[in-house]
Amino acid sequence: AVKIPVTVKCRIGVDEQDPEPALDALTDGVFDAGADALWVHARKAWLEGLSPKENRDIPPLDYNRVYRLKVRKHNEFIGINGGIQSIEEAQKHLGHVDGAMLGRAAYHTPGILAGVDAAFYGVQSEPFDFAALIDAMADYAARHIEQGGRLGHVTRHMVGLFHGLPGARRYRQILSTDATKPGAGPDVLKTAYAAVEFGGAAAEAA
Ligand SMILES: Cc1cc2nc3c(=O)[nH]c(=O)nc-3n(C[C@H](O)[C@H](O)[C@H](O)COP(=O)(O)O)c2cc1C
Repeated sequence: AVKIPVTVKCRIGVDEQDPEPALDALTDGVFDAGADALWVHARKAWLEGLSPKENRDIPPLDYNRVYRLKVRKHNEFIGINGGIQSIEEAQKHLGHVDGAMLGRAAYHTPGILAGVDAAFYGVQSEPFDFAALIDAMADYAARHIEQGGRLGHVTRHMVGLFHGLPGARRYRQILSTDATKPGAGPDVLKTAYAAVEFGGAAAEAA
C-alpha cells in the first residue's frame, strides 16, 4: 500500500464486453484493492479494430452507464470523462457523479478554464487576466529558448486560447507562422496577443 491517493481511469468496457456487468466487476475490483477514485471515460474501447484516436470518437458515449455506476457505488468517488465541451456540461454531470474531467476541450479551448473558479468554487473573481498569463508564458518561453528550445514548442499549445474572440484567427495565424520561424523570440507571442480584441462583443463571447 502507498500513502498517496491512487486513482484509476477506465472505459465502460472493451470489445464484445457487456458494459453492465463488465464495468461493475472492474469497479468492485478497483475499490476492493483500495483505490481512492475511479474515473470512467464513458464509451467502450475497441481494442480490436480501432486506433487509439478512433477510440476517442467512434464508440458512442453512454453517460447514463456511469451515472448508474455512481448509484450502485454511492460511497465511492466516481468521475466522468469523454466529450465534455464546456463548464456548463461539466456542471450537469456533477448532478450525477463526483467529478468531471475535460481532456481535449481543456487543450483546444483552454480559455474556458478561466470560468472554473466562479462556476465551481463560488469565487467571484475579477475577469481573468490574460495579459498576465501571456507575460508569464513569454517568460517561460524565453527560459525554454535559452535552454536550446524553440518558441513554437511552447506556443503550439496555445493556439486555441482565444477561441471565439474577435482577432483569435489573426492570433492563431501569427502563432502558426511567425512563431514557428527559426530564431523567433517571445515578443512574437506578445504581437499575436495584441491582435485579440477584448471588450464589447468580445467580452460577451468570452
Ligand atoms: C493526445 C491524447 C493522448 C492521450 N493519452 C492518454 C493516456 O495516456 N492515458 C489516458 O488515460 N487517456 C489518454 N487520453 C484520453 C483522455 O484522457 C480522455 O480520456 C479522452 O480524450 C476523452 O476525453 P475528452 O473527450 O474530454 O478528450 C489521451 C487523449 C489524447 C487526445
